[in-house]
Amino acid sequence: MGRLDGKVALITGTAGGQGAAAARLFAAEGAEVVGCDLDAERARAVAEEVSGSGGSMRAFGPVDLGDPAAAADWVGEAVSVVGGLDILYNNASAPRVGPFAEVTWDDWRFTQRNELDLIFTVTTAAWPHMVAGGGGVIINTASVSAHRGATFIEQAAHGAAKGGVLAITRHLAASGARHGIRATSTSPGLIVTPQIEPFLDERGHPVHEMLHSHPLGRLGQPDDVARVALFLASDDAAYLNAVDIVVDGGQSLIS
Ligand SMILES: NC(=O)c1ccc[n+]([C@@H]2O[C@H](COP(=O)([O-])OP(=O)(O)OC[C@H]3O[C@@H](n4cnc5c(N)ncnc54)[C@H](O)[C@@H]3O)[C@@H](O)[C@H]2O)c1
Repeated sequence: MGRLDGKVALITGTAGGQGAAAARLFAAEGAEVVGCDLDAERARAVAEEVSGSGGSMRAFGPVDLGDPAAAADWVGEAVSVVGGLDILYNNASAPRVGPFAEVTWDDWRFTQRNELDLIFTVTTAAWPHMVAGGGGVIINTASVSAHRGATFIEQAAHGAAKGGVLAITRHLAASGARHGIRATSTSPGLIVTPQIEPFLDERGHPVHEMLHSHPLGRLGQPDDVARVALFLASDDAAYLNAVDIVVDGGQSLIS
């Protein structure tokens, strides 16, 4: 028996590190997974890999979730193909980071659009299906950046967007409770994914200091977050609602 047997899971950003890891894990636990990404080719390759290992996954795209019509089309197509929706994992994002003095209005808007707006576009499209289906689980992806400032890479726009993700999660939990919808979030620390790999490849980048000072002696891997998301999606977390789980190996609390 899988922990998600009989469940349909919509996961955004499945071409990338954590989204692809979650797609593999959720499918291995019995979920029927529907993914999407801006990068349709990689998202399809992940879906083929999952299907090839005996799981159930489809990926549509390219989908730009910052566009409300495109997000609604993806959710509508997914639900019509798989016949429902139990789990919505809002994982996709694209931030712009850098020194605050150099952040432009365009950087700010890009980050809000691709980190916070897309939570709204996807969730509003999924909401009526979850209500009609008698409930479900929403897992949003925030960040430790929503909990503390950062000097190693300045990231005001990213932190503000992810702070919004934390806040909307609580409001979704409030609005969803009477419909049987739980809403939770994860706040990953530094996780080695395509979003982070360029920094690791850069000799002398401050990110290497985090690696050496990490309480557990290693940075996080996509599976570290995917396993927490699996728990939140499963019935084991039936009484967890409106909470955020920081997945950073304790780094933001230990100095
Ligand atoms: N990697 C980290 O260190 C870290 C830390 C904290 C939080 N996070 C969060 O974890 C989540 C997953 O990040 P990741 O590290 O796996 O990143 P990633 O870049 O590997 O994957 C994100 C995916 O989202 C897709 N995407 C971005 N904007 C999109 C859009 N408008 N429409 C459709 N797809 C879009 C990208 O194409 C990419 O495939 C994100 O929400 C990120 O903010 C990551």
